[in-house]
Amino acid sequence: MSQAFDVVVIGGGPGGYIAAIRAAQLGFKVACIDEWKNAAGGPAPGGTCTNVGCIPSKALLQSSEHFEHANKHFADHGISATNVKIDIAKMIGRKDTVVKQNNDGILYLFKKNKVTFFHGRGSFVKAVEAGYEIQVAGAKEEVITGQQIIVATGSNARALPGVPFDEETVLSNDGALRLGAVPKKLVLIGSGVIGLEMGSVWRRLGSEVTVLEGLPTFLGAVDEQIAKEAKKAFDKQGLKIELGVKVGEVKTGKKGVNVAYTNAKGEAQSLDADKLVISIGRVPNTIGLNAEAVGLQLDERGAIVVDAECRTSLKGVWAVGDVVRGPMLAHKAEEEGVAVAERIAGQHGHVNFNTVPWVIYTSPEIAWVGETEQQLKARDAKYKAGTFPFLANGRARALGDTTGMVKFLADAATDEILGVHIVGPMASELISEAVVAMEFKASAEDIARICHAHPSLSEATKEAALAVDKRTLNF
Ligand code: FAD
Ligand code: NAI
Repeated sequence: MSQAFDVVVIGGGPGGYIAAIRAAQLGFKVACIDEWKNAAGGPAPGGTCTNVGCIPSKALLQSSEHFEHANKHFADHGISATNVKIDIAKMIGRKDTVVKQNNDGILYLFKKNKVTFFHGRGSFVKAVEAGYEIQVAGAKEEVITGQQIIVATGSNARALPGVPFDEETVLSNDGALRLGAVPKKLVLIGSGVIGLEMGSVWRRLGSEVTVLEGLPTFLGAVDEQIAKEAKKAFDKQGLKIELGVKVGEVKTGKKGVNVAYTNAKGEAQSLDADKLVISIGRVPNTIGLNAEAVGLQLDERGAIVVDAECRTSLKGVWAVGDVVRGPMLAHKAEEEGVAVAERIAGQHGHVNFNTVPWVIYTSPEIAWVGETEQQLKARDAKYKAGTFPFLANGRARALGDTTGMVKFLADAATDEILGVHIVGPMASELISEAVVAMEFKASAEDIARICHAHPSLSEATKEAALAVDKRTLNF
């Protein structure tokens, strides 16, 4: 007799494991199936985010930032650090420890919440009266049933056509996060989030980095003023970003890789490098799910088709996270996972796509929520803008990090905040205040009238809100 569950979650990334925990909290009997293996072949729940995404990239960004500070900025504080060296194996080992702590943490949370964890691949067998039969193929094979199924199978890196990843010379995010040595020359294709974050890591550690971007504009989804400011900072750091290129033939050999491309002027170019990272986006993953067995509908991109509340084409089957439409972000996946578990329980799950924040963890960090100025112009909105530079913020001066600004966009008539855009120190933390404000439909004046601790970077947020009404106090 197969084990029967109220809810079976396929995929244990941020969408899946959080959905499983929330469903268990709501009193359901829950199983979560995840196939990710650690180096020893054991379970490593947490998905892309924990294993080869958010967590390891931030660990390496931290290590490489320390290295850069020791080399370039300690002297400003009167600290001499000569002959600073980096032990790459140790840095990667630390990153792996951080990843393992997170994998173990999720296994602990499953136990704590009485979620039954299966290590293996989950696939649809057939619809039955009690829901769906799901095959689990792991160390042993078994079939379980779930009344409700949540699919959270995530995404995979998109390869350049005709250039498969070998993770030796042609790397996805996976290979880029576990290089054994600093490549002398590194080329990244795509100046999106991964291109900038991974490019920053290896540049700080000594690589000569070139990022080749197909589009003529830099970070098109980011507010133009903020993107311009960020680009200035990256140029100054020596991160070479070529826009408007057309990548041609990629040849790999014993000595590395050669990338042929046409630059924005239409001139033929070629670059030799030790390693090539392809960071041109990700594709939804339904490999091995046997979606066709039950007729689960996919769109032309391979994403599972869902409605605004994550219902698929099949009764009792839901899908969340990177495998469905919307931004491919861990916190978006988590919010959808919680909302689906609550909807299964008959509650009103809630995800506000207008207040999903974005963060790029470069230095300076870039963070935003809501609409950009170019989006407001495109829809002919009447708005007011206010900016405040970190140069005029006491805490930023004390930190020695005055690059960038906070920018507010508010409705011209009602003063409601429409978007907040930050480039500068700790933008990832500062953006939360804007998210809360927008969720509560605050006006710029609401933020301007709130007492902010002094000295803190958050005073730049208050001042930018004051700037909307042209009454900054410190600039
Ligand atoms: P995933 O995390 O991909 O998890 C899916 C899981 O399902 C995996 O464990 C997979 O093995 C498993 N699985 C798939 N099919 C099956 C099956 N049939 N049976 C069993 N298991 C299966 N987002 C942020 O918000 N912030 C960041 O800083 C950030 N940094 C990133 C850095 C990098 C380098 C990358 C690549 C991504 C980053 N992201 C970041 C994006 C983030 O990782 C994803 O949006 C997030 O992981 C999506 O969660 P998910 O649960 O939908 O899927
Ligand atoms: P991306 O969508 O952020 O950027 C891809 C870039 O590649 C774009 O600028 C695109 O114009 C360019 N591109 C596409 N095809 C190209 C080609 N043939 N030649 C040259 N350029 C080309 O995708 P990326 O960086 O791969 O990251 C995938 C996703 O992972 C992100 O969209 C994001 O959702 C998530 N992520 C989030 C992070 C965060 O939240 N801090 C960090 C890293 C990834």
